[in-house]
Amino acid sequence: MSDYDSIVILTGAGISAESGIDTFRGKDGIWSKIDIEDVGTPDAFRRNPEMVHDFHNQFRRSLQTHEPNDAHRALARLERGHPGSVLVVTQNVDDLHERAGSENLIHMHGELYKARCEACGGIRHWTDDLGLETACGDCEAAGRMRPHVTWFYEMPMGMEEIQSALGRCDLFISIGTSGNVYPAAGFVADVRRGGRAHTVELNLEPSEGTSLFAEYVHGPATEVVPAYVDELLG
Ligand code: APR
Repeated sequence: MSDYDSIVILTGAGISAESGIDTFRGKDGIWSKIDIEDVGTPDAFRRNPEMVHDFHNQFRRSLQTHEPNDAHRALARLERGHPGSVLVVTQNVDDLHERAGSENLIHMHGELYKARCEACGGIRHWTDDLGLETACGDCEAAGRMRPHVTWFYEMPMGMEEIQSALGRCDLFISIGTSGNVYPAAGFVADVRRGGRAHTVELNLEPSEGTSLFAEYVHGPATEVVPAYVDELLG
């Protein structure tokens, strides 16, 4: 059993890759097929809401066909078995962590299975398509519903809680993220400034930030994450 008291784990698209969900960057990544500026910004939603809805609707529908993998399950096992605290901070908008059993979880880039009304701010669980005609179930305004996700140029969710957990943790693990998108890409530097936490990268290949980590293990998430969790749980 490890001596760590408080563990924070950042996850990215790489942890869901072996569940069949495309990552964003790289040769076949989502952003190699479609321009972020067309579907992933508030400005895109103002200019062409139909296209933005269409992209998110397809993404939401595709999630129904994917299952959590051994890496998601290992993190849930760590949360159950570790005597200290375990917080998973995910950049992913899928629901595979919660379906695997993680409970202490922050979706910093939001959730595709939620929709938000721009008129009243109401947030609802949402599994259907969204469109220009979709009405808010709270205030009844039509055409103001959007996916409850963080687009580029928007502030990620839960940042206060995340920063406070990063300040307290003594182990920070980053899994399946390329280290391209801030503020998540800066978490390892934030933690290291605190000076007392061990930092580990578990990723298929070296990320942009590998050199910032004290330890790294490179390989597929379904192999390296369960192995690392086994080590922590002794
Ligand atoms: N196991 C582990 N890591 C993997 C695997 C795998 N099977 N497959 C891919 N990876 C790694 C890649 O090597 C890459 O470093 O996962 C990382 C995925 O990087 P990105 O596609 O950039 O995804 P992510 O870092 O989560 O992106 C951050 O960017 O577009 C936005 O909002 C979107 O949340 C996303 C953010």
